[in-house]
Amino acid sequence: MFKIGDIEIKNPIVIAPMAGISNNAFREICYKFGAGLVYAEMVSDKAIVYENEKSLEMTYTSQVEHPIAMQLFGGDVDTMVQAAKYLDTHSDCDIIDINLGCPVTKIVKGKAGSYLLKDMDSTVNLVKAVVDSVKKPVTVKMRLGWSEDSINCIELGKRLEAVGVKAIALHGRTRSQLYQGKANWDMVKKLKENVSIPVIGNGDVKSAQEAIMRLKETGCDGIMIGRGAIGNPFLIKELSSIFEKDSVEMPRDKERLAMCMDHAKRLTTLKGERIAMKQMRGLAPWYIQGLPYSTKVKNLLTKINSLDDLKLILDEYELFLNEKYEKYNK
Ligand SMILES: Cc1cc2nc3c(=O)[nH]c(=O)nc-3n(C[C@H](O)[C@H](O)[C@H](O)COP(=O)(O)O)c2cc1C
Repeated sequence: MFKIGDIEIKNPIVIAPMAGISNNAFREICYKFGAGLVYAEMVSDKAIVYENEKSLEMTYTSQVEHPIAMQLFGGDVDTMVQAAKYLDTHSDCDIIDINLGCPVTKIVKGKAGSYLLKDMDSTVNLVKAVVDSVKKPVTVKMRLGWSEDSINCIELGKRLEAVGVKAIALHGRTRSQLYQGKANWDMVKKLKENVSIPVIGNGDVKSAQEAIMRLKETGCDGIMIGRGAIGNPFLIKELSSIFEKDSVEMPRDKERLAMCMDHAKRLTTLKGERIAMKQMRGLAPWYIQGLPYSTKVKNLLTKINSLDDLKLILDEYELFLNEKYEKYNK
């Protein structure tokens, strides 16, 4: 257990913010499987200030998804402060996070995300202004630095702690690396040694063994998992059972298929069937990753238009898997 400000995080499993994925449906599943903290997908400060309906909807949280960190991206002090104040008073989120890591060109051109790693003085001023204007704990999520020759996460981390930031999530890559190479966890260890606030390490964790190893090696407080949790909430279950010293049965194929259907239903409630199915065409294949003969089924899943389409494909696949196993078990 660790604390961010006065918010208790029951275990070190932290689920990363992922635009287009970390909505209410995904987050609820992560909590159901035992996550300690889940981040919501990033929201634009200006979109909140200009009351864009979709962005305001993104700040909604349900009762079962706590504690939750809501993430803002933006580069102007004024609108960042206004948006943070909105989250402080109008959203049920527990933590306000500032994005200092997004490498996407559109965001960087808007002088937000990892652009903010370039000019530490302005960034510290911006973050301080946000911290000073809200009651909820403020955290940041950042990368190592802009590029290999301008790594500044340790110095920036120390300065951000000094202005009142309550935790730092560090993705062990530079902006220039985008998603290439391997995440550098030595820097997570170094940051932990240099600040007193909680440090959450991030990058490339795909298995429970890896997560435990990273925690031990770096001494960090939380392990943030992004891509490893898409279509695989069972990883969260496996990890939480380790922390709670419970025994856990890993999911059978049938449970994976049932969870996929559950995700689709939650998304439909959240966004309506048409948009939900559009998103499930990308998400459903993750749930059957690695199962026997999944390639053909994945192809079918990318064409679904309704919950009924999805159910049919999953039911048929389940029958097929049952028959296959029966054959092998004879
Ligand atoms: C589809 C996708 C969307 C993402 N959106 C965000 C975001 O909104 N905010 C953010 O700080 N990071 C975002 N990230 C970065 C992740 O939070 C995380 O730092 C990165 O994926 C590395 O962790 P992983 O190796 O466990 O996936 C996104 C990553 C992916 C793959």
